Amino acid sequence: LTHLATQGLLRTRPAPFAPDALSFCSNDYLGLASLPIDGAPAGAAASRLVSGERVEHVDLERDVADWLGTDDALLFTSGYAANLGTVSALAQPGDLIVSDALNHASLIDGARLSRAQIQVVPHLDPDATAAALRAPRTGRAWVLTESYFSMDGDSPPLAALRAVCDEHGAALVVDEAHALGVLGPYGKGLCAAAGIKPDVLVGTFGKAFGAGGAFVAGCRPLILWLWNRARSFVFSTGISPAVAHAARAGFHIATQDSSRREAVLRAADRFRTGLKALGLEPLGHGPIIPWVIGDPQRTVALATALRDRGLHVQPIRPPTVPAGSSRLRLTVTARHTDHDVDRALDILRGVLQDLHA
Ligand SMILES: Cc1ncc(COP(=O)(O)O)c(C=O)c1O
Repeated sequence: LTHLATQGLLRTRPAPFAPDALSFCSNDYLGLASLPIDGAPAGAAASRLVSGERVEHVDLERDVADWLGTDDALLFTSGYAANLGTVSALAQPGDLIVSDALNHASLIDGARLSRAQIQVVPHLDPDATAAALRAPRTGRAWVLTESYFSMDGDSPPLAALRAVCDEHGAALVVDEAHALGVLGPYGKGLCAAAGIKPDVLVGTFGKAFGAGGAFVAGCRPLILWLWNRARSFVFSTGISPAVAHAARAGFHIATQDSSRREAVLRAADRFRTGLKALGLEPLGHGPIIPWVIGDPQRTVALATALRDRGLHVQPIRPPTVPAGSSRLRLTVTARHTDHDVDRALDILRGVLQDLHA
């Protein structure tokens, strides 16, 4: 703990979040998380393989699979559990996992748990992926990527990755956690935007859909395999029916009403334009707007200065991002008005002026 503190890497518990704070650090992209929901049982009472199967699970899985055009889908209690359980159930010792250097911890942990050989390739690099797949191997190969990187707001060339996987007989696993509901045609994500189908598509309900839990979508044998072998699914109480019900409500709003999606993308454009006018260089595209500072202590000091003036943003430090790339990860939601965005920019301008004074 002392070491973490001296490095500027110690996390401590913040005060409970005030719902009316001017926050630019949530993943509630469509502004659905604060909608009150009731009308479903609290608990599943057992693993779904035992006696935990509920109509709320089945309804949500069917709706998601229909929406994405996959055979089937399977709910998990979180995106972390989905990636951990799925990657470790699919890849076997002797297989090769090719993993983007900036993949989320849950993909990394699932890969490690699988005991397959892991080759980390540079971020967003289909050529490096192809090179990794060309090496002789005896087992299967799995390519893991996010479609909209959670800390960088950028995206891989998914059509190129699909082609590389097809050429080398590898399966493509795409985590669309931050894209679904927001990006792509009708919010169907960036695989849909690229016109490709991954072999395994992971999504969460804890971000744009405003609830919690997650799913894996794909072909019937995939879902049956996960039902049998994804340990974070098999050996865990089924996701709360109340959470599944809330997720389905958020899912229906997000997929049937485009106004929230349009609002968050408008807010993202306005904020990105304003940041550039301040001389900053935000990375990526869309509602995740990273501003890389580099040094963790400086990043925390900036976040604190912004918070003292009423703007809530989160400093992101290693191990969440690579050493030397600490950043403020600014995010916008559909609930941000033009006035909110302009207030946030004013606060940022004030803090930057103080820094240079
Ligand atoms: C890319 C990615 N995958 C998975 C997760 C985990 O999702 P959840 O918050 O539902 O556990 C996250 C969120 O932190 C994420 O950013």
